[in-house]
Amino acid sequence: MSISKTAPKVLLSADKIQNRLAELGEELNSHYKALVTESQPLVVICVLKGAFMFCSDLVKHLDFPCQIEFVRLSSYGDARTTSGAVTPVDPLNLVLPDLTGRHVLVVEDIVDTGLTAHFFMSHLKDSHNVKSMALAALLDKKAKRKQIVRIDYCAFDIEDVFVIGYGLDDSGLCRNLPYVGIVE
Ligand code: XMP
Ligand code: MG
Repeated sequence: MSISKTAPKVLLSADKIQNRLAELGEELNSHYKALVTESQPLVVICVLKGAFMFCSDLVKHLDFPCQIEFVRLSSYGDARTTSGAVTPVDPLNLVLPDLTGRHVLVVEDIVDTGLTAHFFMSHLKDSHNVKSMALAALLDKKAKRKQIVRIDYCAFDIEDVFVIGYGLDDSGLCRNLPYVGIVE
């Protein structure tokens, strides 16, 4: 049955997500407020496509200067299990501004096997002389972890279920849902 015809089961309601993002925003404010300035704002890197909604809601809570950038990575294609290889969808999407000496926060939708986050955090560490880097993830799904990844700001831990909504998709659909749901 097509998921577009069946309402997904709610795992994390819109209210629950928004309340948790307010808490994460406070944590980020207390950590970064004293570290960044208007001339050296926090660089927030939103990993497209899945993190677009999480990132846009999260940054609304930040009350210090930030510069928002985007990259697009993929380890999935249209399948529901990872292909195992993380690739920039288009090499141009990995072109970032000069991050030398900058505090950087990477914003991901979900850390599953950990391959995507590990790839990108390693890329930042090896190829950009950043002052600090941290990872924020909406969801931490540890069951199939293949790479150790440190998530500095995690909104929710989830079980081993395929989730959609709030930016996450099933073959391109459902990203617009204001909640995180489970495909049954
Ligand atoms: P890895 O396995 O590299 O996965 O940690 C990270 C990326 O895979 C996608 N992903 C999902 N997408 N529902 C989705 O819609 C899921 O349950 C799911 N698990 C992983 C996602 O793009 C994430 O950034
Ligand atoms: Mg993703």
